[in-house]
Amino acid sequence: MDVHVADHPLIAHKLTYLRDKRTDSPTFRRLAEELMTLLAYEATRDVRVEPFRIETPVAPTTGIKLSNPKPLIVPILRAGLGMLEGMVRLLPSAEVGFLGMQRNEETLEPVTYANRLPDDLTGRQVFVLDPMLATGGSMADAIHYLLDRGADNITAVCLLAAPEGVAHLEASLASTDIPVKVVTGAIDERLNEKGYIVPGLGDAGDRLYGVV
Ligand code: PRP
Ligand code: URA
Repeated sequence: MDVHVADHPLIAHKLTYLRDKRTDSPTFRRLAEELMTLLAYEATRDVRVEPFRIETPVAPTTGIKLSNPKPLIVPILRAGLGMLEGMVRLLPSAEVGFLGMQRNEETLEPVTYANRLPDDLTGRQVFVLDPMLATGGSMADAIHYLLDRGADNITAVCLLAAPEGVAHLEASLASTDIPVKVVTGAIDERLNEKGYIVPGLGDAGDRLYGVV
């Protein structure tokens, strides 16, 4: 598994305001989207493209376009929805599928409650969006689900990760040789006893959409 921390002053700047507990929900939503767009630049570095011929007003030349099948973007509900717009803005022709997962706050185990994805993902390049890679349980389950359906190239995009989550994901993928990449805005210090990232930004879903 390849882990890429997107080290850029604009990313650190936007993360700072996401972390700040005084940031209100509308601002948090806007920043999460903008941060996703910046992370998308790194996450799509290996997006599959093919050449095609065009003519400029001056001369013919060869350009590139996204290959078929188009990439699939999978936000993990709820909080991953806050990143979707920032990603599709850069990849408007990508398809979008959904996975709904909720972490049991006592056991910290993920529970999958919704799935709207193609059954067959053979040969698909998939971008999974979830702002927080904490214990890594949700992302590990999501990636195994996609691999079981045939996805052959997966990039997980997170706003923040914990070292424990990165290690768990790496261990859970040890037996696969399908390329998996993680792109994150930062790797924080640790998890606390409740499984929250420290210093982190709190509960991403609640900060985006309110407490349920
Ligand atoms: C949060 C977050 C991730 C998960 C990360 O979702 O958006 O999906 O926790 O934790 P993990 O790495 O320990 O599995 P949550 O369960 O709070 O649901 P929500 O998005 O609906 O708020
Ligand atoms: N989920 C969140 O939203 N925040 C954390 O810090 C950990 C899991």
